[in-house]
Amino acid sequence: MDSKHSYRREFLAKGLWATAGLLALGPLKAAFAENYPASKAEPDLLARVNRAKDPENLQGVEVGHVPQIKSPRTVKAGEPFEVEVMVGQKLHEMIPVHYIDWIDLYAGELFLTKIILTPHLTQPVFKTMVVLKTSAVLRAVEHCNIHGLWEGSKQVEVV
Ligand SMILES: [Fe+2]
Repeated sequence: MDSKHSYRREFLAKGLWATAGLLALGPLKAAFAENYPASKAEPDLLARVNRAKDPENLQGVEVGHVPQIKSPRTVKAGEPFEVEVMVGQKLHEMIPVHYIDWIDLYAGELFLTKIILTPHLTQPVFKTMVVLKTSAVLRAVEHCNIHGLWEGSKQVEVV
């Protein structure tokens, strides 16, 4: 077979695969929209930093997204204490189409640390040690690839 026929055969085979791929996109897009309607129902989620309307009573999409901060309420100045951050009251899922890609921790406006996640074998939780000199609001900010930015906070008093 000459190279002209070989080229034509290869071209046709690639065209068939490309067509099959395009045909498969329709059902995939429909399945995605069906499984993740929140981004369509609440497009404003992507245009702001989201916070719980009532942190003591999370509702709807807040349940899986508002970062929860576990730490003592009072600490001693200059003494390290443990802080755990978990994304959601119900831990957010970590699958390739829907996951938390990073979490930041601040003391007031001061950036403390960041964890970068992938949806492969990780969970949106981390622990770190913090040392405060004065009372501060710990703030955790996370990013969900579908539902955008979410912030949770906790006041810690230095005594
Ligand atoms: Fe999400």
